[in-house]
Amino acid sequence: ASTLGAAAAQSGRYFGTAIASGKLGDSQYTTIANREFNMVTAENEMKIDATEPNRGQFNFSAGDRVYNWAVQNGKRVRGHTLAWYSQQPGWMQSLSGSSLRQAMIDHINGVMSHYKGKIAYWDVVNEAFADGNSGGRRDSNLQRTGNDWIEVAFRTARNADPAAKLCYNDYNIDNWSWAKTQGVYNMVKDFKQRGVPIDCVGLQSHFNSNSPYNSNYRTTISSFAALGVDVAITELDIQGGSAQTYASVVNDCLAVARCVGITVWGVRDSDSWLGANTSPLLFDGNGNKKAAYTSVLNALNSA
Ligand code: G3I
Repeated sequence: ASTLGAAAAQSGRYFGTAIASGKLGDSQYTTIANREFNMVTAENEMKIDATEPNRGQFNFSAGDRVYNWAVQNGKRVRGHTLAWYSQQPGWMQSLSGSSLRQAMIDHINGVMSHYKGKIAYWDVVNEAFADGNSGGRRDSNLQRTGNDWIEVAFRTARNADPAAKLCYNDYNIDNWSWAKTQGVYNMVKDFKQRGVPIDCVGLQSHFNSNSPYNSNYRTTISSFAALGVDVAITELDIQGGSAQTYASVVNDCLAVARCVGITVWGVRDSDSWLGANTSPLLFDGNGNKKAAYTSVLNALNSA
């Protein structure tokens, strides 16, 4: 196959990208995105601050622009994200305790009912674990509402849209030897044992010199999958843009049946949150395919 999406589809997987609504008028951007990818994540437009800027007043205009572009071009959509310590609107930042807990529940219900039946995977909870060696939860206003906030979010989400697959999504959970990875693994294991509705784990996979790709990544993917959840690579970028590392990531996903797909976090280097000078993506700032692109395509085609 000659595009990333078609090549991934040969093994029943998808290949996606983050899309920014503000770039949908850039024809170079949309031409590449439409040609190469068959899954779309809104880079910012479905986050809490975007969708509920005032309590109880939902705004889906930007989220719908991304959603409609994706669906009109035959792509599926990953929803990102419903409960997160970051990008909360001011009104939510100032809440605590039971009123924050209720606001989280209301937010999940409001957004998921708008997109009911339309989203393949939702990142229900994002980045709830701490960096470093504790393996425990990140402190946040949501965490301070009680340790059960994550399972409440998942139970709420299941009721709101039973058709969506529900994911826990985080960064720095790629390296199997890291405490944060083990903390998330133990939570998912506990959820599966107790019947908390969780269907997938998203490995963001932002690789850089502080959190480099490690060959135990395949063990991480297979270990989560063995708990009975799908695994998705949700926000892939590699600072420096190593073609070899990109191929390793793809091959590790292809080696695990329940690794369902890969999403890169942007189209061209110039679209990346990291800045173009780190060369993190598959297309350069002029829209040309990089060596990393060819290496990803070849890996997908040899599956
Ligand atoms: O839209 C406003 C614009 O009106 C304003 O003038 C400008 C001035 O700062 O800001 C614009 O908003 C920015 C937004 O991106 C859109 O460009 C925000 O400041 C900026 O904070 C925001 O950054 C996003 C970041 O999440 C916020 O946490 C990045 O685009 C986005 O790529 C990044 O994505 C996250 C994932 O959601 C979760 N995992 C990590 C990943 C990378 O940080």
